[in-house]
Amino acid sequence: MPVPIIIDCDPGHDDALAIMLAAGDPAVDLLAVTTVAGNQTLEKTTLNARRVCTVAGITDVPLAAGCDRPLVQPLAVADDVHGVSGLDGPLFPAPTVDVVPEHAVDLVHRILSGHPEPVTLVPTAPLTNIALLLTRYPQDASRIREIVLMGGSTERGNRTPAAEFNVLTDPEAADIVFRSGVPVTMCGLNVTHQALATPEVVARFEALGTPLGRTCAQLVTFFGSTYRTLWGFPSPPLHDPVAVARVLDPGLVHCVEGNVTVELHGRYTRGATVVDLHGSTGRPVNARVAVGLEAGPFWDRMVAAVAALGARAPSGPAAS
Ligand code: RIB
Ligand code: CA
Repeated sequence: MPVPIIIDCDPGHDDALAIMLAAGDPAVDLLAVTTVAGNQTLEKTTLNARRVCTVAGITDVPLAAGCDRPLVQPLAVADDVHGVSGLDGPLFPAPTVDVVPEHAVDLVHRILSGHPEPVTLVPTAPLTNIALLLTRYPQDASRIREIVLMGGSTERGNRTPAAEFNVLTDPEAADIVFRSGVPVTMCGLNVTHQALATPEVVARFEALGTPLGRTCAQLVTFFGSTYRTLWGFPSPPLHDPVAVARVLDPGLVHCVEGNVTVELHGRYTRGATVVDLHGSTGRPVNARVAVGLEAGPFWDRMVAAVAALGARAPSGPAAS
């Protein structure tokens, strides 16, 4: 049976691929897409989610906008990584998919309350919406099967030497999620850096011969240009689809149990995920921590999902 999921995202190039993986793979049932401020402003991440759903033909999934700023600190977008639009690279047609009028947190609450089984939340962005959901509707915790998030790292950060972007953007929200008692799986940079979109992957998207395949190739190519400039990566890591992959086939993403604690006060380390995999701190296990990716099968599922969507999607954007 497909696993019911909700994606909470900040498109964002890798978020775009995560949405497509969730919508195109039969192992998951995408119940909703919600957006939050992160890679770009809420206005831009929401427009980008509408764009992705439009070109991918995802027209039967409710889309709702959520929080436009972190819980405590001001928003700091990643326009150096994702561009001014937040989804630079392809030219997108005017979106035909629109948002529902509800706030994302209220939409998620309504779905959790009414769905016949617990739902998996897949945040691929700062955790502001998720923290607000758990605070505003604490009864929903029992309706969440697990939270499988992209964020944090068992090693170095990316936005700072210590902190990964999603957690750094809203550390207080991440702290609420990891302390919530809800089953959490953390897909951090240590595992998402194993999902490198090499030229062979780009060629596989292009070889699909569909407008959506071309759009994915353009997204990855732009993402690769900024990752090369900023961090010297020969190929960009597609972070967010790894969290979806863990849900659709746990054998794709290997995990161990550990304690994840978010640093809120360090002068140089705020937003770091301090991950104890060996019980040395005495802090209790509160998460599964992803440590390994079956990269080959992962890319097979990613390309197959885009192929499935592309076969039924509308004509794509004009060539850029
Ligand atoms: O650090 C990577 C994460 O930050 C990804 O989710 C990417 O989309 C950005 O949001
Ligand atoms: Ca993201």
